[in-house]
Amino acid sequence: MSTPTNDAATNATRTNDTSDRPDGWWKSAVVYQIYPRSFSDSNGDGIGDIPGIVSRLDYLAALGVDVVWLSPVYTSPQDDNGYDISDYQNIDPTFGSLADIDALIAGLHQRGMKLVMDLVVNHTSDEHPWFVESRDPASPKRDWYWWRPARDGVEPGTPGAEPTNWGAAFSGSAWQYDEVSGEYFLHLFSPKQPDLNWENPEVREAVYAMMRWWVDRGVDGFRMDVINLISKPTELTDGEAPPGRPYASAFVVANGHRLDEFLAEMNERVGLDAQNLLTVGEMPGSSIATARAVTDPANHELNMVFTFEHVSLDQTPDGSKWDLAELPLPVLKANLAEWQDGLAEAGWNSLYWNNHDQPRAVSRFGDDSPEFRVASAKTLGTVLHLHRGTPYVYQGEEIGMTNSYFTDIAQYSDLESVNYHAEALSLGMEAEAVLQSLSVKSRDNARTPMQWDDRSHAGFSEGVPWLPANPNYVVVNAHTAVADPSSVFHHYRALIELRHGNPTVVDGRFSLLAPDHDRLWAFTRTSADETLLVLANFSAQLLDLPTDGLPDTTGAMLLLGTHGDAGPGDTLAPWESRVLRLA
Ligand code: NOJ
Repeated sequence: MSTPTNDAATNATRTNDTSDRPDGWWKSAVVYQIYPRSFSDSNGDGIGDIPGIVSRLDYLAALGVDVVWLSPVYTSPQDDNGYDISDYQNIDPTFGSLADIDALIAGLHQRGMKLVMDLVVNHTSDEHPWFVESRDPASPKRDWYWWRPARDGVEPGTPGAEPTNWGAAFSGSAWQYDEVSGEYFLHLFSPKQPDLNWENPEVREAVYAMMRWWVDRGVDGFRMDVINLISKPTELTDGEAPPGRPYASAFVVANGHRLDEFLAEMNERVGLDAQNLLTVGEMPGSSIATARAVTDPANHELNMVFTFEHVSLDQTPDGSKWDLAELPLPVLKANLAEWQDGLAEAGWNSLYWNNHDQPRAVSRFGDDSPEFRVASAKTLGTVLHLHRGTPYVYQGEEIGMTNSYFTDIAQYSDLESVNYHAEALSLGMEAEAVLQSLSVKSRDNARTPMQWDDRSHAGFSEGVPWLPANPNYVVVNAHTAVADPSSVFHHYRALIELRHGNPTVVDGRFSLLAPDHDRLWAFTRTSADETLLVLANFSAQLLDLPTDGLPDTTGAMLLLGTHGDAGPGDTLAPWESRVLRLA
């Protein structure tokens, strides 16, 4: 890990001021995720950067969000757009410098906002000095990664010699053969992302030291990438490959037996709770029980986790994300309600519809046709922000940005998408079906440039963007949205304001109503002082409210609605939602 020396700010003595992070502050906060590559380009190279973000801080302040979560900006070969880090304590020149990140921290703090960094410590880049050293079998760092010999009796480097039959998340085997040492290393993601061995205490201490360095620099928390993969079984055994697929999922290693121990140790050694830092762990494949244990404050691990269940409901039960399936509304409602109930007594939920790995919310769960894009984007916001938990807004969600719907593989950049396309074709799948899956689920849907205004490239860059802007930027852009009081932007602003001013929105008890209704999403939030009723029409048709199963709304007050001050009536317009305070 390098210690940067040429930056005055680095050497200054800093203390991380905790006075504006009172206990539990993150419960009433709304987090805004920035994917730096696609947010705002200040120097015309077609790639977003930190000065670009700094130039947009007043926009974020106007929206009213409390926290920015910044996807990785560290030094990286960019194999996975920065989720492959070769120096945790420096900034990739593509994005700027340490001085720029200091300016970002200062700019956010001046405006009353906080910064949460992405922490990617399940794996490093294969270009990280730790891994470079580890390639030598005699090196003291050999054990920092998962090196294993070939399968017994099979010639190393030949097909089938991999230590287990696991597939990587980005296609192919999860093992890469290293000719020099004749052994394999584990990579649950790309071969350029070797997994760190958290069993080794030196690895853990190096990570904690790096985290403390960022805390001292002034950051307010961490979003932890695939953090439930850091503890793995020490015995690595074959899994069962799904029919027609060559590999078993490597995620059998998720939630290993030392996960709680490692997280509690990290919390203690970095002072996460002691300094009231925000911590959110990305945990694919975790159950409610696991999430409850990790987020129960008594266990001092994390504040909240990202579940993947609700974003896995529109795929076939035994398939992968690419095997598309219809998602009936009752199934989606039930899943969110289960998590609400599961973490009601202990733990805390994070709430999200989309991020840099998921398709755009309005295209996936709403209706992105010109007629209903605005109403359905607003209603998705209403429902999510009125659940109990900390809401996350992904850049562009607040203006109702839509999927890019690429039609040609040449348009894609994301390695997951490109690798999946190649693997699926090699297995004999129909090209058209593969492209269809990609257009619905590819991560590039979320990664097209932020749409700022109607200038060329959506005002994102004066150069040619690394991924083309969605042509709908002429209509869908921040400039237009800010100027229009009835826009998605102003609805999100109002939702955030409501949360800030209303403790029931933050902490009220959640109760799902009319669970089987296939178009109505209805629930209450109840505190000692009041009951809020949320009614949302998840369809493009008028919805007559059922007479059974809903509370009496006589005398109720409309706190926030998508269709003006219509007040309590018994019909919802297409994609209308209302938040009512019951009398
Ligand atoms: C999850 C991140 O969100 C994703 O973008 C990344 O590709 C993988 N983890 C690997 O770091």
